[in-house]
Amino acid sequence: MQSLMRDLLPALLIASDGSECPHSPESNAGQIEPSSLFAAPMREIWLEIGFGAGEHLAWQAENNPDVGLIGCEPYINGVASLLRHASDRDLSNIRILPDDVRPFLERLPDACLTRLFVLFPDPWPKRRHQERRIVQWETLATFSRLLKPGGELRLATDDPQYQRWMLIRATGRSDLIWLAQRPGDWKVRPDDWPETRYEAKAIKEGRSPAFLRFRKAA
Ligand SMILES: C[S@@+](CC[C@H](N)C(=O)[O-])C[C@H]1O[C@@H](n2cnc3c(N)ncnc32)[C@H](O)[C@@H]1O
Repeated sequence: MQSLMRDLLPALLIASDGSECPHSPESNAGQIEPSSLFAAPMREIWLEIGFGAGEHLAWQAENNPDVGLIGCEPYINGVASLLRHASDRDLSNIRILPDDVRPFLERLPDACLTRLFVLFPDPWPKRRHQERRIVQWETLATFSRLLKPGGELRLATDDPQYQRWMLIRATGRSDLIWLAQRPGDWKVRPDDWPETRYEAKAIKEGRSPAFLRFRKAA
């Protein structure tokens, strides 16, 4: 782990302070153009918030080599796990922000992302902690601002209460269109959406995940 952090992380790191790494955002009134974080031109830019052990992000990067994948995850063991995937599969189309995503989101320009993933975010079940949930009215407004027209927001949870919370807030926006037409559309994980560690844990423990896809209105 230490050698990956030392040898590979600097090549993939997004330094939030803009210093000492090859992919530091070029500061332009605080704004970050995400395509500039990649050495080669990318067809699209996708963002995963809270990638955990990185298995979903690595799968997407491997299967979409012309897409730039940005992952944000403050949990350092998760960053090390993603580095292991990146090294094993020789992935060069990922960039990692090992930090809270929220200040980073504020620095991204409108309509810069084609996909945004928030998979099994911490549910914070106690009422007094619900303000810590990453999905809020305000963050959904930000997600919508960042998505290109026709882009896709993917949310997953195994917590029924958080599922309702997500649906109320996302479907409350006229610019996010829920793509489910029948139960199978949200109860069954699509083929281009690999299982994550938290999904596997939920199923093992008898909970049923929900896979929610929303299209950003044109
Ligand atoms: C329950 S885990 C799910 C991990 C992974 N998505 C999965 O499905 O296995 C939630 C993850 O979100 C990360 N996280 C929580 N708040 C975050 C934030 N503000 N910015 C980025 N990541 C965050 C946590 O560190 C944690 O790894």
